[in-house]
Amino acid sequence: MTQRKIIIDTDPGQDDAVAILVALASPDEIDVLGITCVAGNVPLDLTTRNARIVCELAGKRDVKVFAGCDRPLGRDLVTAEHVHGKTGLDGPDLPEPTMPVADGQAVDFIIDCLREHAPGTVTLCPLGPLTNIATALQKAPDIAKRIAKIVLMGGGYFEGGNITPAAEFNIYVDPEAADIVFKCGAPIVVMPLDVTHKALVTKNRNDAFRDIGSPVGIAVAQMTEFFERFDKEKYGSDGAPLHDPCVIAYLIQPDLFKGRHINVEIETDSELTMGMTVADWWGVTDRPPNATFMKEINADGFFDLLTVRLARL
Ligand code: BDR
Ligand code: CA
Repeated sequence: MTQRKIIIDTDPGQDDAVAILVALASPDEIDVLGITCVAGNVPLDLTTRNARIVCELAGKRDVKVFAGCDRPLGRDLVTAEHVHGKTGLDGPDLPEPTMPVADGQAVDFIIDCLREHAPGTVTLCPLGPLTNIATALQKAPDIAKRIAKIVLMGGGYFEGGNITPAAEFNIYVDPEAADIVFKCGAPIVVMPLDVTHKALVTKNRNDAFRDIGSPVGIAVAQMTEFFERFDKEKYGSDGAPLHDPCVIAYLIQPDLFKGRHINVEIETDSELTMGMTVADWWGVTDRPPNATFMKEINADGFFDLLTVRLARL
């Protein structure tokens, strides 16, 4: 497989952290050009802090970590400390980062990267609200045609929402940004709740992380233990979904996932269903397809992949 150049746009978040670790553990397939942070699970200063903690945990202090937008395009920020804890990365006891935040704004880094590399060679991997990506598209509309693909975690259709009955957190926080991204014309692959709710960290799967025995394996086990207390209560399930790593797993092993190429629109008007990903799964409109919306995951294959990759760090 050829190495794919990616930008991870993220709001860590324990599941973002696992996604970043797996990407950094997979240099044969993935070249992380930079990590761009956005406000989401917690405010921007914390997501920027957490991304650097994760890079240092992985032993990759040379990764560029940029700070991006500190609030949605046109709304107040909604955060998710109730899931991720006060720092966003509660669970393991990890040292404060010492590597610097990269110079420049995340949005400009995204634009420059897409302009500097050949068209169709840089993949964007948004794991949080889409504010940075939408701002880049607004500021530099020429980049849309240069994006190889946008592989994002967000939305939900059959599963409904997780922050409101209709909306998933990442899309709900900045629906106007999501609307811009879904209309930008670049190829989009969506990992919605319909997939991630089938990828639960059961006890055996978390034991496998811990049994890696390294600081990374132990920290990942502690992270998932922390946020699963919330999901177990909420869903009454065996364990928490591990949302964001689905994006990175797709880049490495796309055959773990199945979905359909369909039309997906974002609700930006109705207060009741704000941020809903209206997915035309059954093709009942003639709206043109704009995204590959995943629905199935080989969960055992997914967790095996994560465990093997995390063990490399
Ligand atoms: C998404 O929201 C965040 O809480 C997680 O990090 C994930 O990106 C799941 O709805
Ligand atoms: Ca996230």
